[in-house]
Amino acid sequence: MSAAENEPFSYQNDELYCEGVPLAKIAGEVGTPVYVYSRTELERAYKAFDAALEGIPHKVCYAVKACSSLGILAALVELGAGADIVSAGELFRWQKAGGDPAKVVFSGVGKTESEMVAALAAGIAAFNVESAEELAALDRVARARGTKARVSLRVNPDVDPQTHPYISTGLKQNKFGVAMAEARPLLREAARLEGIEVIGVDFHIGSQLTKTSPFTDAIARLVKLVEDLHADGIEIDHVDIGGGLGIDYGKGDAAPPSPADYGAAVCDALAPLAKLGVTLVTEPGRVIVGAAGALLTRVLYRKRNEAKHFTIVDAAMNDLMRPALYSSYHPIRPVRDPNRPTIPTDVVGPVCETGDFLARDRELPELAQGELVWVGAAGAYGSVMASNYNTRPRAPEVLVKGDRYTVIRARETLEQMIAGERIA
Ligand code: LLP
Repeated sequence: MSAAENEPFSYQNDELYCEGVPLAKIAGEVGTPVYVYSRTELERAYKAFDAALEGIPHKVCYAVKACSSLGILAALVELGAGADIVSAGELFRWQKAGGDPAKVVFSGVGKTESEMVAALAAGIAAFNVESAEELAALDRVARARGTKARVSLRVNPDVDPQTHPYISTGLKQNKFGVAMAEARPLLREAARLEGIEVIGVDFHIGSQLTKTSPFTDAIARLVKLVEDLHADGIEIDHVDIGGGLGIDYGKGDAAPPSPADYGAAVCDALAPLAKLGVTLVTEPGRVIVGAAGALLTRVLYRKRNEAKHFTIVDAAMNDLMRPALYSSYHPIRPVRDPNRPTIPTDVVGPVCETGDFLARDRELPELAQGELVWVGAAGAYGSVMASNYNTRPRAPEVLVKGDRYTVIRARETLEQMIAGERIA
């Protein structure tokens, strides 16, 4: 088997396929824009990540926010994944997909009391608490229900993840977690609260990390905290190191560490805790689903002005927001005949904003009107960040396995978009 046949998206006779399905077939039957995911790649990525941590007792809690369609969640449920959620909505989705609430950790700085009630009723594994006030609210909510909330305290280890500032979360100027110095006294206090059972400590320092050192630096700080707590008589069951491992977006810069490299570094850094019988919890999102998904779009028009050439496609910033929001790079290829002479072009959508672009100054084969275009590495933070801006229906999603595909989310209709609105 050639290497290309192991790729989720590969050319066969100059035509791009997802596994065994020509993308042109999906575009013809489902229309464009459309998100397409490879189930085989999703499974491969999950298993590779899980296997990388086999040296240590661990749980993989997939970060639902990365891609939360029921069809994707159900595939991960089948693989035995747990979930990292950030809202009652994500808990609802996880359970609708058949997910076990007992495998759920609940992150986020702003959980509402009604979300706490829903999560307690479902019996989630842990609340990742991010402030003293949140801890007090959770204690109150749990006591009112005659129960105890299992709590992990999110600390802010103040390490630089060296990623885009919008997705850095573990620096002291970020809103996330509590300061390291505050963590020990707060956990001592938490251990005395009637509605709280302290079971863990956690961090999530950022997303799209391309080095292991920020993880291992943060783990070193967490290890020290767990040892201090042990000295205080507070035993921790788990340490949760969040998500954040990056993927290769094909821009040609240094590739992020492989899950195996990441796993080896993490296991090494956590070795001092082995004697305390601590389990590792992880919350990967992007590395599980990022490479498995692509956005398929069609060229509407081309034009050239004094400064530039533009390729106008039918997908826009409302479909894939990452380039507009973070200037992020996604690989782009024509679905047919990739080996043509190239020109520099801006690939832009129909939305009325200059920020509506999928790529700028990209060298691409000169695309013709009506041609299909593949925008890769769009499985994570793609469909989930879509909006109805410009009253554009959200794109459908398709899950491919072998030579078959399933529409796991239908294209939104105009009526669905205005359901719930009324004229006063
Ligand atoms: N755990 C927590 C608490 C998180 O906040 C996140 C992501 C994750 C886990 C998963 O991180 P991952 O393994 O996917 O890096 N929209 C941005 C990414 C935002 C990430 C937010 N938190 C993007 O498109 O790059």
